[in-house]
Parts: sequence; C-alpha cells; structure tokens
Amino acid sequence: MRRFGFFVHPLDMRDVVRIAPQAEGKRKPLVEKILEWTPPHEVAHITGLKCADGEEAEGWFIGITLFPHQFLELPKDFVFQRIYEGALIAKEKGAQILGLGGYSSVIGKGGVELQALMPDLPMTSGNSCTTAAALDATARAAERIGIRISEAKVAVVGGSGSIGSVCAKIFAANEPAAEIVLIARNQRRLEKVADDIHAETGKKVTTCNSVKDGIKDADIVISATSSSGDIIKADYMKSGALICDVSLPHDVCREVASLRPDVLVIEGGLMQIPEGVDLNYNFGFDPGIALACMTETMVLCMEGRFEPYSIGRGLQIDKVREIYKLAERQGFTLAGFRSFERLVTDEMIDSVIKAKKQRSC
Ligand SMILES: NC(=O)c1ccc[n+]([C@@H]2O[C@H](COP(=O)([O-])OP(=O)(O)OC[C@H]3O[C@@H](n4cnc5c(N)ncnc54)[C@H](OP(=O)(O)O)[C@@H]3O)[C@@H](O)[C@H]2O)c1
Repeated sequence: MRRFGFFVHPLDMRDVVRIAPQAEGKRKPLVEKILEWTPPHEVAHITGLKCADGEEAEGWFIGITLFPHQFLELPKDFVFQRIYEGALIAKEKGAQILGLGGYSSVIGKGGVELQALMPDLPMTSGNSCTTAAALDATARAAERIGIRISEAKVAVVGGSGSIGSVCAKIFAANEPAAEIVLIARNQRRLEKVADDIHAETGKKVTTCNSVKDGIKDADIVISATSSSGDIIKADYMKSGALICDVSLPHDVCREVASLRPDVLVIEGGLMQIPEGVDLNYNFGFDPGIALACMTETMVLCMEGRFEPYSIGRGLQIDKVREIYKLAERQGFTLAGFRSFERLVTDEMIDSVIKAKKQRSC
C-alpha cells in the first residue's frame, strides 16, 4: 500500500461551520482563537485509490486549523511549528509523500524550509498540477468565448509567485500571448521574474504594482496571489474578459457574479477524481471534485514517485507538463468550469460572447 498525507485548512467561516456546525453564529475572533488553540490533527482517511500499475494507495488529510490570514499574520515560528507537528502526524501514519495544501506552502519559502527540516519525508506544494489545470481550463474557456491567446493581452496577478511566475513563463513560451503583464506588490521580485522570462523565452513582459491598472485592458487574467482575497473588484475588468481565479480564498469579489455578466470568471485548479476514490471529507465541492494540489499529491503517491516535486517558487515547465500527463494516466481529468461555486452555464458563456461582440462593434 502506498501512502500520502495532505494538509488542509479552513478558508473562511463557511468551511468551519461545514465541519463544526456548533460554530454557526459565533463571532469570528472567538473562532479564530479556538482555531489557534487547536493542534494539527487527522481529519479524513482517503480510500479507494487504485494505481495504474495495480497497486493500491491511501492517504490522510491533516488539518492545520488556521485561516489564510492567520498563516500570514501570526508569528512565523508559531505557524511553522504547527506545520511541523502536522508533518509528524503524516510520518506516524506512514506517509511516503506530503502535500502542503493551501497556505501551508505559502509560508516557509514555498515548502523549502519544512522540506529541509524533514528530508526523509518528500513534500510537494501541488503547484505544478494546479498550474497545469488552471492553464488547461483557461485555454478551453478562452476558446469557448472566442479569445485567441496569441492575440490576447494576458495579465498574471501574483506574477512573482510560485504559480503565477510559471504561468507567465508558459504564456511566454512556444506560441506566446501577444502581451504579458506581471502584477504584484514587490517590484524587485517582479523584475527578477520578468528578466528570467526574457532570458528563457526571448519574450519581453511588463510589470505593474496595481491590480486595477494591470488588468484593466487584459483579455485574460490569471490570478494566483497569497492575498486574503477580494482584490479584484467589479469595475476593474474590460468587457468580454476571461478571469481564471486560482487563489484560495478567491481574489475576485463575489459581487462580480451579479454585476459583470459581460465577464467570465472561472475557478482554476479543480480536478475530477477517478470513480471509487473516497475523500471522506466535504470541501463544499460537488462529489468527485478535488483541488489540483491534492491531485498532484495523490498522483505522485500512486506513481510511487516519492520525491520533492513542486517545492519553492521557481517551478519548472517540464514538471507542470509531466504531472498533468501522470494525472491523466491515474484517471484524473479537468473538472467542468465553475464560477462562484456554480457550474458555468451556456447562458453565462453567451452573455460574455455578446459583450465581446458589442465591444468590437
Ligand atoms: N486551486 C488549487 O488547487 C490551489 C493549489 C495551490 C495553491 N492555490 C492558491 O494559489 C494562490 C497562489 O499560491 P502560490 O503558492 O503561487 O503563492 P506564492 O508563491 O506565495 O505567491 C503569491 C503571489 O501573490 C502576490 N501577492 C500577494 N498579495 C498580493 C496583493 N494583495 N496584490 C497583488 N499581488 C499579491 C505575491 O507577491 P507580493 O507579495 O510581492 O505582492 C506573489 O507574487 C494561493 O491563494 C493558493 O492558496 C490554489
């Protein structure tokens, strides 16, 4: 039996209430304190994984009970200790690989620091598969609404991050997007990524420190930030734009769903798991849907690839492509488009196509 561990954590109050209904109606500061006091623990046993080579696999979700902003704002030593304790639980369970889900990889240099502390337990952030799934979904959605990537201006919000920088690199390689702009707050890191992309692909990309200015005339926006969410407001995008929101919690404000029917927002990084796999945990998704970062951990385990895979901020294009092929071999496929937790309908697509046509008239 092959075994993996994967860190999960709540994104917001809805996640807490789904698992602990007694939290309903409680004040958020109180819930935050309780989360802070709760040590890492096993939250689910994942069963039914049949590997392509005939082996079986199982895994455990290990809860690191902090909200995203707590990962970023509590003292780093405290958060790191929590994650370390979670990794010890994975080891006790016999995990041969550990997935650093959500913000557990955002702190500690994309998992580099925890991996250095525990070299005998290979780790992955899951960001290669997340990138592959987000780009696949973006390409398919762009085709549906009639955006040609080679003619498009692409904005990558979080362009200096782990997922954002490799997304930008892929948009710059092979058949490049017409224009690429990288957006984040730290200009030095943005310029480093822009220089690397230029050196590797020959494509010049621009940088911007304002989300509003950076995306205002973009045809395609990929958003993958470690902000605590809601940084893309309803009046930021041009009509007919496509936004793939990879971030958890989401970067695109919910009001966009009702205020901007002329823009298509899809959630990036969602995969359909093989039949028979039971996650034994309710993430609030439809049954059979998993995050791409979980998928990466499950797939590496099913392949018997017990090695550090997506670690640190500099992801490799080859690995992004490889993990997606391995996922396919193990029976995982891209999930249908979802927007603000609902399946994207033909009416939503038509409304964006109409807006695009009106704009070009
Ligand atoms: N769907 C999935 O399966 C899945 C899987 C993995 C990760 N994720 C999500 O993907 C997101 C990115 O993860 P990552 O590992 O790539 O993070 P990361 O390496 O820490 O990068 C975060 C990026 O966001 C930028 N950023 C942070 N706050 C910002 C703000 N307010 N405005 C503009 N840019 C901002 C950072 O640059 P500055 O600090 O310089 O601004 C950096 O470029 C996270 O939300 C994570 O939860 C989703």
